[in-house]
Amino acid sequence: MGPFALAQLLALISVTVALDDGLLKTPPMGWMAWERFRCDIDCKDDRENCISEDLFKDTADRLAEDGWKELGYEYVIIDDCWMSLLRDEHGRLQPEPSRFPGGIAKLARYIHDRGLKLGIYADMGTHTCMGFPGTTLDKIEIDAQTFASWGVDYLKFDGCYSNPIEQMLGYPLMSKALNATGRPMVYSCSWPVYVGGLPPDVNYSLLGDICHLWRNYYDIQDSWDSVQGIVEWFSNNQDDLQPAAGPGRWNDPDMLIIGNFGLSVDQARSQMALWAIMAAPLIMSNDLRNLDNSARAILQNKVAIAINQDPMGIQGRRLLQEKNRIEVYWRPLSNSASALVFLSRRTDMPYLYHTSLAKLKYQAGTYEANDVFTGSAVRGLNATSEFTISINPSGVVMWYVYPEQQSKLTESLHHRHKTFHKAKPEHSTVL
Ligand code: GLA
Repeated sequence: MGPFALAQLLALISVTVALDDGLLKTPPMGWMAWERFRCDIDCKDDRENCISEDLFKDTADRLAEDGWKELGYEYVIIDDCWMSLLRDEHGRLQPEPSRFPGGIAKLARYIHDRGLKLGIYADMGTHTCMGFPGTTLDKIEIDAQTFASWGVDYLKFDGCYSNPIEQMLGYPLMSKALNATGRPMVYSCSWPVYVGGLPPDVNYSLLGDICHLWRNYYDIQDSWDSVQGIVEWFSNNQDDLQPAAGPGRWNDPDMLIIGNFGLSVDQARSQMALWAIMAAPLIMSNDLRNLDNSARAILQNKVAIAINQDPMGIQGRRLLQEKNRIEVYWRPLSNSASALVFLSRRTDMPYLYHTSLAKLKYQAGTYEANDVFTGSAVRGLNATSEFTISINPSGVVMWYVYPEQQSKLTESLHHRHKTFHKAKPEHSTVL
């Protein structure tokens, strides 16, 4: 470590950066370019899909006009490959002019005018993962100031091309630098991914103090295998990860890929359900200009969103892994409610699963549930009585569960969440 780095390290030890700034009381919702559009910079042959200001403007239009914004999807996030290969004469990052001719400040205005927020990407290191200019320690302040001056609302700070010592210095410094701009900006840290994602190499309590959210694990890809791998890793390590989350501090299992090419309808429901249970950011990466209705319905499911956005902000857990390859996930919610997800990891046919709420550690009493994806109501669920549900291969049944005496309260939820209007006892999921 050189003297410069050492001095910074010492300075840091005496500075605690508290991010108790009221941002992200619930997980962020929005859209990010990476999983779907990657580093497509070929605007000559692929105008529609290349990383350019038009892609972000089109997406902002769709978010504002197609009902997304009202549901909470508000961040439009630029990922890698937006930059020019050179910083400007003042050492500032600048967008590639041929693809962002209006500049980022103008794009931010376009997005703000539609009631949305803009996110951007930078990398703690010498280069971004795709080889664009990185943010070395000496550039942290100027980059934070540049983003603030453009009106950026969210920074994804990646970690390619840096070593653990630089990361240990750089991630807290960027937090401080963002704070110092005076502009509220969400700070998403990829730091944990680069040091294995788990304690003792990752200090989740420090992360919660300096970042609003953080990527813990590998990148999502457009496949069910990838979704399963991520869920498996998060669940296997839930004792370390689950307590780290709460209002203003979230684990990030990566983007929602619903609406792309890799998931069936059942698998798409599974991703939505599990991301809601995990209190994960609901950041889609798909083409909102071309989205089929089933993907739209899943992503716009009001009950799934309400579960994800529950104000207590307690991340859920995997409760059970059965030999028959059914898994049960659970998340406590406000007003004594809870969410249950029954996931089938089977590959044969719909599976009839028998259980009871008591087996899932519910206290004695009578409950009601709403089936999140069918909209049907399940009434008179006594904790000790067995019920049977049918779960499709690689699919889920997801329930919003609440004690029966709370049905008054749920009435008011019926009004807030239209999906509940569809609830019909005669379509009960209990077989
Ligand atoms: C890393 C990140 C991805 C994406 C790419 C961009 O792989 O984890 O989410 O930002 O870099 O190059």
